[in-house]
Amino acid sequence: MNSSDQLFINGTWLSAVDGATREIFNPATNEVITLVSDASLSDTEKAIHAARTAFDSGPWPRLTATERATYLFKLADLIEAQAEALAMVETRNSGKPLREARYDVADASACFRYYAGLITKPSGETYAVPDPNILAMTVREPIGVCAQIIPWNYPFLMAAWKLAPGLAAGNCCILKPAETTPLSAIELFNLIAQLNFPPGSVQLLLGSGPTVGNLLAESPLVDKIAFTGSTKTGRSIMRAATGNIKKVTLELGGKSPNIVFADADLNLALEYALFAIFAGQGQVCTAGSRLLLQDTLAETFLPRLAEASRCIVVGDGMNPDTEMGPLISPLQLERVQAYIQSGLAEGAQLLCGGQRINTPECERGNFLEPTIFVHTHPCMKIVQEEIFGPVLVVQLFHDEAEAISLANDSVYGLAAGVFTSDTTKGLRVLKQLRAGITWLNTYHPTFNEAPWGGYKQSGIGRELGTYGLDAYLEIKQININLAPQPLGWYRKCFS
Ligand code: NAI
Ligand code: MG
Repeated sequence: MNSSDQLFINGTWLSAVDGATREIFNPATNEVITLVSDASLSDTEKAIHAARTAFDSGPWPRLTATERATYLFKLADLIEAQAEALAMVETRNSGKPLREARYDVADASACFRYYAGLITKPSGETYAVPDPNILAMTVREPIGVCAQIIPWNYPFLMAAWKLAPGLAAGNCCILKPAETTPLSAIELFNLIAQLNFPPGSVQLLLGSGPTVGNLLAESPLVDKIAFTGSTKTGRSIMRAATGNIKKVTLELGGKSPNIVFADADLNLALEYALFAIFAGQGQVCTAGSRLLLQDTLAETFLPRLAEASRCIVVGDGMNPDTEMGPLISPLQLERVQAYIQSGLAEGAQLLCGGQRINTPECERGNFLEPTIFVHTHPCMKIVQEEIFGPVLVVQLFHDEAEAISLANDSVYGLAAGVFTSDTTKGLRVLKQLRAGITWLNTYHPTFNEAPWGGYKQSGIGRELGTYGLDAYLEIKQININLAPQPLGWYRKCFS
């Protein structure tokens, strides 16, 4: 690969046809790390045609599942062998603390292994239909060309969540990373290139969402679009996908409640309340961005929460002591600061934080203090909208019924947590929450084995687990006549 060729199309590294490039920044310093290719619409067409040809007549969908699994197991091994280098690339480009990037890389490798294993396991069913001479069954087949558009908060892990099930199922894929965070995806495709995946089975397309991404969503040659990102963009993708009735799966925004009852283990609840919102700088779709706190706790819990937030070590993710990194870009910092202003304007009060960090280590980057709002009202923008930064809003509730009603008062329904020592109550509450991912006495654990996705405007479909593979497979019904004989329907012609 030349230093300017970062589009991977039909098994070859290419530059953009018009030579366009984009600057990639380190969010801890806002220094340019490198330039990468920036695809045009004609590069996008090229990638789509490569995937289309590979699906219609190439080897990838025609390999046995075991053969495809072998490629993915080898890819998992290569990721593991390069894990530390990959984590460092991820931290430099996304800003996330190295310990989080290491976790993501390990999880990504496990995701390729999981789907490599799953694709060779039994699938399909037979059906007891009311005709003794018919054997009815299903087989699963790949959907076709799948475009996969991913965000900047988990660049490497989201690439794995998309490519692992998509490729295992036999689809030909086109991955489009976010504009700001392509570097770990380029490293992943270096490994894919080393393994000589059949040409066209998997392409890397770097480029802008509204042009390249939109064409992927619109193209009649693309059979499925899988997207993770904002609800606003998800809506636009869904609209663009109507032309050829694409299969669409969407993992979108959230405003997830984390409910702490007075009978909870409060040390546990305190640490998890911080982790729920400040992991990933709050730029996490499932962030526990609303702390629902039983009112009797307010006086004791909130001062401890503020104190603990002030102790979080914020800095460059490459520094091993760092516990929270910078926001992804000056633009994201601006968006989050605008929410802080809006919260203050609407009458909420800052319990802690709220300021950009101007220490010598942080002044050049997009660093914001861990921020907590109290005296909020359910109508406030900061309570209703996804902020996607290290900003927690506290909502007090009186009893179980009020906790549930506040928790569900959202257009989103991605995740929710409940902390209580009364397990029966915890389960009773979880059962009534309109959310796709729920946690009792924990927050954020995510497993390749279990389905992931949202209710309401948080998305459509599920990733991970067996559901995540189903999302990349068509189901074909097969009916076999075990006793062929004339039908006798058209009496005159066939008598
Ligand atoms: P975005 O949702 O617009 O970007 C995510 C991906 O979609 C990127 O790869 C981008 O290039 C692509 N994209 C953008 N517009 C597109 C279009 N019209 N057609 C096809 N693809 C398109 O997110 P953005 O603008 O970077 O961030 C804005 C807000 O979105 C954040 O403040 C946050 O609230 C939310 N967000 C939520 C995420 C989540 O996982 N819930 C992830 C990223 C952003
Ligand atoms: Mg956008």
